[in-house]
Amino acid sequence: MTTRYMIVEELGEGAMGTVYRAVQVDLKREVALKVLHQDVQSSLNGLHRFKREVEACAALNHPNIIRILDCDEMADGCFYYTMDLIRGLDLASLAAREAPVPADRVVALMAQAADAVAHLHDRSMLHRDIKPRNVMVDDAGRLTLMDFGLVKLHERTVLTVTGQRVGTPKYMAPELFRGEPDAPARDVYGLGLTFWELLAGRLAFPERDMQKLVTIILGRGVEPISGVRSDLPAWLVDLVTRCVAIDPRQRPTALQVKESCLGRRPVTQAPVAGAPRRSTRGAGAAPAAAVVAAPRRPPSPSGRSTGPGPRSPPGPPRRLPPRQSSGRPDRRTIRPWRPRGPTRTLP
Ligand SMILES: Nc1ncnc2c1ncn2[C@@H]1O[C@H](COP(=O)(O)OP(=O)(O)OP(=O)(O)O)[C@@H](O)[C@H]1O
Ligand SMILES: [Mg+2]
Repeated sequence: MTTRYMIVEELGEGAMGTVYRAVQVDLKREVALKVLHQDVQSSLNGLHRFKREVEACAALNHPNIIRILDCDEMADGCFYYTMDLIRGLDLASLAAREAPVPADRVVALMAQAADAVAHLHDRSMLHRDIKPRNVMVDDAGRLTLMDFGLVKLHERTVLTVTGQRVGTPKYMAPELFRGEPDAPARDVYGLGLTFWELLAGRLAFPERDMQKLVTIILGRGVEPISGVRSDLPAWLVDLVTRCVAIDPRQRPTALQVKESCLGRRPVTQAPVAGAPRRSTRGAGAAPAAAVVAAPRRPPSPSGRSTGPGPRSPPGPPRRLPPRQSSGRPDRRTIRPWRPRGPTRTLP
């Protein structure tokens, strides 16, 4: 059997899956490979649905949106997809390492992120999970928005599973807790909160108790960034404050955020209404509540990744030995994709 990818090391683990640095054997190139957790996979109702979700991401072509390369099922049935390997840091790590990040650098990053989000919104798509760990910056300062597309399944998992996998949706917009429909304004909130944290160098909501957290998100909301940093220009304080407004109608569009950052001036046009768009990809039927299938690390109440965890020591790519006990194929050995039906084109 051909081995298409070889795992080199674990890069991190989140609510949806585990990300590895891997080598695509035939092209001799490094990629990032994400293997879905079993519970997330269960909520997908099969490989076909998974591929359909990944196709939506793969169809996007934007310099600040992660490029999806491939997706399939491993020998033991775990779903995975591969994407460009970003050599850099996610914004949570950047904030932890370099706080206080200079305002000019934050503005340059925010313009790129807003451009990526505007690109999605132009296509009636939502990201749904914009947060510091889903935004990476490479060594040249280029920003990449990660994890687009499959996140609605993740969100559903977070909200419906009782047991180990209940996280804290710290980056969810207030209107979602009130049961209001999904709309682009939720992504603008995630954008604002992400850049609030990058400017502040700390979490906007350190509260660990879920009920208290929701009360704060819906009540007083995000602390004014001007109270955390006094060196920011007024237009930037105004922009970030508007993005994280509790009322979605007060938030600018992603395009307005981008223009404001590029022009270094306040948002000029009227804010958009928070009403849902006519047709928003993926806002349809909810997947069934997921089941936690295997013991894993405890969830992080911070709502962040459970962290990169212990990494394998760096070294040359290695072929992993076959699993002895279960008789099942090694989950890290990936077999080539076999078409299972007619090719599907995106609407
Ligand atoms: N394409 C990539 N290139 C390089 N590193 C990546 C890539 N994708 C993810 N990572 C790293 O792996 C870590 C884990 O990513 P993952 O998406 O699994 O977790 P998360 O973003 O914290 O949580 P979530 O499941 O909610 O998205 C990230 O924080 C990032 O550091
Ligand atoms: Mg992620």
